[in-house]
Amino acid sequence: MAAIIETEHLTKKFKHLTAVNDLNLTIEEGDTFGFLGPNGAGKTTTIRMLTGFLKPTTGSVRIQGHDVFRDSKKAKEHIGLVPDMFGLYEVLNADEHLRYYGTLYGMGDREREKEIDRVISLVDLDERRKSKIKEYSHGMKQRLVIAQALLNNPTLLFLDEPTVGLDPKGAYEVRNIIKSLAKEGMTIFLSSHLLNEVQDLCRTVGIIHYGILIKLDTINNLTKELQLQKGNFINIELATLKEKFIKLLREMKGVEKVFQYQNNIKVQVKSTELVSDLVSNLVKNGGKIKSVTEMKPDLEQIFLSLTEVKKA
Ligand SMILES: Nc1ncnc2c1ncn2[C@@H]1O[C@H](COP(=O)(O)OP(=O)(O)OP(=O)(O)O)[C@@H](O)[C@H]1O
Ligand SMILES: [Mg+2]
Repeated sequence: MAAIIETEHLTKKFKHLTAVNDLNLTIEEGDTFGFLGPNGAGKTTTIRMLTGFLKPTTGSVRIQGHDVFRDSKKAKEHIGLVPDMFGLYEVLNADEHLRYYGTLYGMGDREREKEIDRVISLVDLDERRKSKIKEYSHGMKQRLVIAQALLNNPTLLFLDEPTVGLDPKGAYEVRNIIKSLAKEGMTIFLSSHLLNEVQDLCRTVGIIHYGILIKLDTINNLTKELQLQKGNFINIELATLKEKFIKLLREMKGVEKVFQYQNNIKVQVKSTELVSDLVSNLVKNGGKIKSVTEMKPDLEQIFLSLTEVKKA
């Protein structure tokens, strides 16, 4: 796969503050990338440089091989941006708003109207396209901004904390749009401080802390890494839990620890391949099993363990 974003030693200083510090980042085409970091970590500053709106102090950005500052027209053809803050002309309706931007992008009338229909339906605003923006909910406004970002058919979409301030339904709708765009092959660069959102939407994550990229990997690899560190856990839920089950499991080869709570047995094992042996042993001894789950660490545990490591 080819790289769609490549940065080299990307750095932004504001007087004495280094907001982004020597960022070397490569994102593959078609990836869904979650850019995680607390408030003030440098997410927005990075996005502004990647999209060509803010000049770095040093370093470079290439989008689909084009330098975003030296070859900005070619680079920007690939980019859609949903910024963290946006101004909308509230007296316009969605159609008029998009028409304004379509004209600004230099689209011909027919192409523009066709694209407007496409993006309006993509963000599910068909029924309200003739209503004034000032009558829109926050969620509808956010969806309109996404439509605007998609108008010039980008292959790479940046979204800077797109669900902040939305209610659960509004956030759910925005996430669904992102999911369907990703499914169609669009590269997604999603900045967020919501771990479950990134877990839900992204394949790869980068964690930025005080302007420094402290981790860059797939969620899958990070999960495995943490499992290696902390162990593999299997949860077995039983109809009734008998003392002998605990003893039985403790004596099995490959079982490291056994905990119990309510009708569940939590087993730490050397390898998850042991699951079928655990289950058959329990069944053979009269255990009625309701469910078996491999307990994988989630992004929250990964994030906490990484910041823990950093402190130590
Ligand atoms: N134009 C500016 N002038 C001076 N300092 C700035 C400017 N823009 C950002 N900063 C500083 O750079 C640092 C990174 O800010 P940035 O907005 O990139 O963080 P962020 O990760 O997007 O945070 P948030 O989650 O709050 O949106 C912060 O300390 C911020 O105060
Ligand atoms: Mg920000």
